Amino acid sequence: MYLGLDLGTSSLKALLIDSDQRILGSASAPLTVERPHPGWSEQDPDSWIMATRVALAELGQTHAAELGRVRGIGLSGHMHGATTIDGNGKVIRPCILWNDTRSYKEAAALDANAQFRLLTGNIVFPGFTAPKLKWMAANEPEAFSRIAKVLLPKDYLRLWLTGDAISEMSDSAGTSWLDVGKRDWDGGLLSATGLDRSQMPALVEGTERGGALRAEVAAELGLPSGIPIAGGAGDNSASACGMGTVADGQAFASLGTSGVLFAANNRYLPNPDSAVHAFCHALPGTWHQMGVILSATDSLNWLSGITSTDPSKLTSELGQNVLAPGSVVFLPYLSGERTPHNDAAIRGSFAGLGHEADRTALTRAVLEGVCFAFRDSLAALAQAGTSLSRVTAIGGGSKSSYWIEALATVLGLPVDIPEGGDFGAAFGAARLGLIAAENADPFSICTPPATEQTIHPNRDLSAAFDEAYLRYRALYPAIKGAMS
Ligand code: XUL
Repeated sequence: MYLGLDLGTSSLKALLIDSDQRILGSASAPLTVERPHPGWSEQDPDSWIMATRVALAELGQTHAAELGRVRGIGLSGHMHGATTIDGNGKVIRPCILWNDTRSYKEAAALDANAQFRLLTGNIVFPGFTAPKLKWMAANEPEAFSRIAKVLLPKDYLRLWLTGDAISEMSDSAGTSWLDVGKRDWDGGLLSATGLDRSQMPALVEGTERGGALRAEVAAELGLPSGIPIAGGAGDNSASACGMGTVADGQAFASLGTSGVLFAANNRYLPNPDSAVHAFCHALPGTWHQMGVILSATDSLNWLSGITSTDPSKLTSELGQNVLAPGSVVFLPYLSGERTPHNDAAIRGSFAGLGHEADRTALTRAVLEGVCFAFRDSLAALAQAGTSLSRVTAIGGGSKSSYWIEALATVLGLPVDIPEGGDFGAAFGAARLGLIAAENADPFSICTPPATEQTIHPNRDLSAAFDEAYLRYRALYPAIKGAMS
């Protein structure tokens, strides 16, 4: 048995597989995001530990015997979060999350230092970890002075599980401190942020062992003491391990809280000018690129909140058949945007509202706006040297057939839907746990699931969507000018 723990933004999920990679059971526990000021997004790291306890207690109700036979654990987590720890191993302040944009000035200042793009292969986005630490140094200097370690969210869970401060390459690539080509921390980038190597966790590959389960925690969770914890991965690379997106040119579109268009690469292909992310993959000697949309299902969740209507009801109100885009256009920039704009200050918009614009028109516009944002990322990947011929859809939003057909039509690409099952980040993490525990070959474990269905672009609507995409593209500069 192997256990995957995926620390997501809205919930923590625990998933158990056997040595044939069959899913035996899973459980999750909800998490909340605090937004104390506009643009801020924080979580209490100790709520991750609580959520792990809750999820494992639930899993233990039905699978206590299997938990007692777990041989390896893999970790996945939302990326970029700054979890600061003092000399006693205590959390200093709430974790500043991936979609927090408060440190946009600090990000621009670091990004102006050419070494960052040169060595990390990425823009220093405000959501990345380094600018958050710069912000702390300027705004919370006493707290900053007490930092003994800076950990990524899943690595804080590891600290609790193992007692060790360890990270791995895929998540660390999103800090702005990793030399992504060399797969090692860079002392110069750390010192430009007022930090040094001693404040960083040790590094392993995602498939290697990164600590062993402490006896005390093992007893509490009903797991065997001393089992290995794999390096694991940031949630996008973990999903890619779950989906078997590991060979050069394979790609997925994830419709989760964030939207991600992810392509696996067998070499390091940085292109910061296109606002594409170029990170280490979780498998040794591999990298990946991705375009990141900060609010994908988060946009639908926002509409759901203000209309007091469940997201699944909103999408089911649209019926099965995709309609040509209406006159309402939505820009999904509720938290600013990464790819392609790198703009923390921009905010979302509805344009083209008429008296006839009812709830379904707004839902359609939200789904279409997110699809257009994916098309921006497709163009950015092409600019960065990766042209995709098909993608696999994953994430909560991929349950809406309307959304997927709209996505296929907007991208002009076939979209594969994997056969029923759970191939997300928790599954990928469990696979990494298996690889680390058994010293298994990563490529023979991380295989793709069978495709249940392929959704093709609706060619009758392609021209209408192309035209609507141009309207969408024209709105960003206009709105930016008007709002700044
Ligand atoms: C990736 C990113 C998000 C988070 C969400 O760069 O910021 O996809 O990892 O969990």
